[in-house]
Amino acid sequence: MSDEIDQSRRHFLTVATVVAGAVGAVMAAVPFVSSMEPSARAKALGGPVDIDVSKIEPGGQVKAKWRGKPTWVVQRGPEAIAGLAKVDPSLRDPASKEDQQPKYCQNEHRSIKPELFVVVGICTHLGCSPLYKPEPHDPEVGLDWPGGFFCPCHGSKYDLAGRVFKGVPAPLNLQVPPYKFMSDAVIRVGEDQGAA
Ligand code: FES
Repeated sequence: MSDEIDQSRRHFLTVATVVAGAVGAVMAAVPFVSSMEPSARAKALGGPVDIDVSKIEPGGQVKAKWRGKPTWVVQRGPEAIAGLAKVDPSLRDPASKEDQQPKYCQNEHRSIKPELFVVVGICTHLGCSPLYKPEPHDPEVGLDWPGGFFCPCHGSKYDLAGRVFKGVPAPLNLQVPPYKFMSDAVIRVGEDQGAA
C-alpha cells in the first residue's frame, strides 16, 4: 500500500516537474519573442532610413535604399528652384493633385525645403530607375530639356521636382516618400514630418 502511494507520489512529482519546466520555458521564451517581434515587423515593413545630406552640393545627389527602393535626395540650386515655375504648361500634373506625395510636399517644389528634393527613384511607367539629368539641354534627352529625371527605356521625362511631362508613357509624378528633418544635416525617410 505504502509502495503504491510512493509510486503515485513519484509520478505526481515527475509530472509536476515536467509541467513546471514547460511553464518555465514558456515564461522564459515570452520576453524573448516579444523583444523580437517589433524588429521582425520593422524588418518586414522596412523601417525608416536616415540620410546624411550635409555634404550635397547644388546639383548633387545622395542615394539610399528605403523599403528596398532606390531613394534619392537631390540638392537644387537657386536657378533650378526658379525653373520649377517656368515649365508648368508642359507638365501633366504640375500642382501635384495625384496622391504621389505627403500633404506637406504638395507644393511647387514638392518638398519641405525647396533646395532639397527627396524622391523614390522608380519610374511610374513600368518601374525602371530613371537617370538623374540635372543639366539643361542634355544631348541625350533633348535641346529643350530643362533638367530633371529621364527614363531612357521608354522615354519618360520628369522635371527637377519629379513631375512628369505630357506626351510620355509614365502616367504619374515620381513618388515623394514620407520624411522629416532630424536636423539640418539628416533626413529621416519613412517617418512623417510632425511624427514622434
Ligand atoms: S519604365 Fe520608365 S519610361 Fe517605361
